[in-house]
Amino acid sequence: MSQNEQWSSRLGFILAAAGSAIGLGAIWKFPYTAGQNGGGAFFLIFILFTLILGLPLLLAEFSIGRTAQSNAVDSYKTISPESKWYRVGIMGMITSFILLSFYSVIGGWIIAYLYKAVTGELTGLSSDEYAQVFGTTISNSFVSISAQFIFIILTILVVARGVEKGIEQASKVMMPALFLLFIILVIRAVTLEGSMEGILFLLQPDFTKVTSQTILEAMGQSFFTLSVGVSVMVTYSSYLPKTQSLPRSALSIVVMNIFIVLLAGLAIFPAVFAFDLEAGAGPVLLFNVLPTVFGQLPYGMLFFIAFLVLFLFAALTSAFSMLEIIVSVISKGDLKKRKKWAWIIGLAIFAVGIPSALSYGVLSDVTLFNKTIFDLADYAVSNVLLPIGALLISIFVPLKMKKSALYEELKRGSGLKKGLFETWYFLIRFVAPLLILFVMLDVLGIW
Ligand code: PHE
Repeated sequence: MSQNEQWSSRLGFILAAAGSAIGLGAIWKFPYTAGQNGGGAFFLIFILFTLILGLPLLLAEFSIGRTAQSNAVDSYKTISPESKWYRVGIMGMITSFILLSFYSVIGGWIIAYLYKAVTGELTGLSSDEYAQVFGTTISNSFVSISAQFIFIILTILVVARGVEKGIEQASKVMMPALFLLFIILVIRAVTLEGSMEGILFLLQPDFTKVTSQTILEAMGQSFFTLSVGVSVMVTYSSYLPKTQSLPRSALSIVVMNIFIVLLAGLAIFPAVFAFDLEAGAGPVLLFNVLPTVFGQLPYGMLFFIAFLVLFLFAALTSAFSMLEIIVSVISKGDLKKRKKWAWIIGLAIFAVGIPSALSYGVLSDVTLFNKTIFDLADYAVSNVLLPIGALLISIFVPLKMKKSALYEELKRGSGLKKGLFETWYFLIRFVAPLLILFVMLDVLGIW
């Protein structure tokens, strides 16, 4: 989409921004990270961070984007000329690059699983066998790299055309369908025999399991699921007409996200306990557990295939935003350049992502700080780069933007009570920077 193009409607913007937000973060990453971090307490801390930090930061990015009406780098330049703040946008581009390099690996896993489901290779397996089939699939170098490649190509094709067309239309059907399937899945999961333990695991916080690492991961998770800290939301909101209300859009995205995180948790953990699976299984958790739950439904395989298609769509709409932010900076609204750079950057990301794709196969023994290349990229983005990006944005907004202008920007559309605005401003100006710093330093054991 070129800079002066705009979303065709508020709904279009919300769908695209929600599409960026809702993706692997809520559906794949949340369950496995919660599983590794004790469940309920992690979930609760995640919700708190989403409300206290995520929502205000989302609004901050929206205000930057719509005030400046430009891409992730030029927006900072427009607001604060002759300063170095545009580097926040460059950092966002680098973060997005690394993010998409491993995100596409998981996107590839969905494609590979979809292929197996459609060709009947998954029919009639037991839950142990699912895990086995999945393990063999992702450890196969050829399969994981080609699946990742397909995912990247799909992303490139859409971003090369401009994000708006197509996505808006498709989102209107796919997102509600995804919600619906999730609800069916949750009903099945929570009515499994022995599911209670899983429900309690998610909803009953056990604070004895909380460490400073848990808190950092919950914070990273809340930024990750809202696509905050990378200036993706700066880019997207720059396409939004001035007449639309930013707080409303932000709130609906946050509510949808929390809802889908809850649904994902309620679909997975009851089944984990009912079938005696491993909650701390890591990134493979969802892929091992879900087929088993679907297996308990009539026409389970059909539902599973539908789920994988919708899940793939959710992952793709997030992936578009990652590539979009980079391409929109470089191509500056020129359609020819957009096409060329979408391919160049997309393929470069693919190349950089190959070692991540091999982390579950031939490179599984290559570790640094006890983490595989995949885990390291995931950790660096979620728990280091996103928090630093968010921290810088929370410093930038009150420092470089006039309070009265911010109020005007946030008030447009349906208005915003002064008290709410003041609360937001306080959260952004004081709470966000201090809390993010505190959580990051705490994990380093500074005090
Ligand atoms: N929010 C996306 C997800 O949950 C990931 C994402 C993060 C996308 C940052 C863009 C920027 O899958």
